[in-house]
Amino acid sequence: MADFLSDNTNQHYCLVQISDSHLFADRASKFYGLNTYETLQDIVALVRSQQSSIDCLLCTGDLAQDSSVEAYLNFLDALSPLDAPQLWIPGNHDIRSNMQQVLDQDCVSLKRSAQLGKWRIIMLDSSVEGQVYGLLDQKELADLDLELADSERNGNFAMICIHHNCMPVEASWLQQHCLKNSDELFFILDRYSHIKGVVYGHIHQDFEGERNGVKILSTPSTCLQFHPTNDDFTIDSANPGYRWLVLTPEGEISSGVERVTEKTYDIHFSSTGY
Ligand SMILES: [Fe+2]
Ligand SMILES: [Fe+2]
Repeated sequence: MADFLSDNTNQHYCLVQISDSHLFADRASKFYGLNTYETLQDIVALVRSQQSSIDCLLCTGDLAQDSSVEAYLNFLDALSPLDAPQLWIPGNHDIRSNMQQVLDQDCVSLKRSAQLGKWRIIMLDSSVEGQVYGLLDQKELADLDLELADSERNGNFAMICIHHNCMPVEASWLQQHCLKNSDELFFILDRYSHIKGVVYGHIHQDFEGERNGVKILSTPSTCLQFHPTNDDFTIDSANPGYRWLVLTPEGEISSGVERVTEKTYDIHFSSTGY
């Protein structure tokens, strides 16, 4: 059974997705020239200026670049001005046991799911130790099926969060790092009609698609962006961003991406490897 963040079934819920912050233990560290702690602070300031009330923050992996406990503490510090419950999932750069050390069960968790009124938010761990690509193991797939069956029985709508992309990207260097068994994911999803969205990070770019009536959305990184079409690793010039999602009591998702404006960053565009 999912933990309730809210049991009001008549309200709209505002969620904010924060992804791929790639923080380090040392807040002065840089990632391709970008100070990732600073860019995350810029995103938090942007969210504060644009979102008056946030019901939940979806933190969809690669929160740390160096996987350190200190980096996760830095993440908590950076997000504290938003004063909202946080659901975390690991990305390929994260270590789940290190994330677990900084959690506060009241408002920050790695839990499987949460309930917001009629909405079941399901969190999937696609990280594979030592690998950049993602995979949902049999436990994740079985739990997903259980969550979907339970939420369907309760007349809920469902939204799924995962780090790795389940839809292809055009940039071929990046596609090799995708979710390897999206066919197994879709095999389960196709058996239910109450799933409204799948959201992910990892590809450091904005994507909006649809598959069998399910919205498929990715969000930009809060730091560096990857070029969406170049077949070799290429840093994109787009600024850091985040995604907002409004879930309605009728089962609709409206969503958009916002980016930092009026600020330029000293990015090392000539870097060739990831
Ligand atoms: Fe990332
Ligand atoms: Fe990633």
